[in-house]
Amino acid sequence: MTAEIQVEQLLQAAKAAREQAYAPYSGYKVGAALQTKNGIFAACNVENASYGGTICAERAAVCAAVAGGEREFLALAVVTDGPEPGPPCGLCRQVLAEFAADLPIYLGNLAGKVVELNLATLFPAAFGSGFLEGKKNG
Ligand code: THU
Repeated sequence: MTAEIQVEQLLQAAKAAREQAYAPYSGYKVGAALQTKNGIFAACNVENASYGGTICAERAAVCAAVAGGEREFLALAVVTDGPEPGPPCGLCRQVLAEFAADLPIYLGNLAGKVVELNLATLFPAAFGSGFLEGKKNG
């Protein structure tokens, strides 16, 4: 049985996680929440004075879910502030595609606007494990 996507709960979890964002350099706070069949795993962006050390909310959510024993993602919600809800960056798209190339994504902002997308649309022709098959000993 496939679990229903809990869009409202997912957006609420992402919004709550966003409150914890550590973003003193950009001021751009992001919350992300992944739904799996066993629950919701949320995280925020964590910036660093060495800017390259910054971790996006979406990748942090992937790490939280995987560390919680989850590798099958049903949907992702991302909440940012701004007139247009912000999509996952390219690096996060790549990391999400590792686990769910056609992941449904709900982008929200604090004004309540929600944009529904799919990772397959945002990130077509992704590089994936298939390209590495048979190469390990090469
Ligand atoms: N950020 C995310 O958390 N997710 C994205 O997909 C885009 C960017 C964060 C990283 C940094 O803390 C801030 O937003 C500005 O780039």
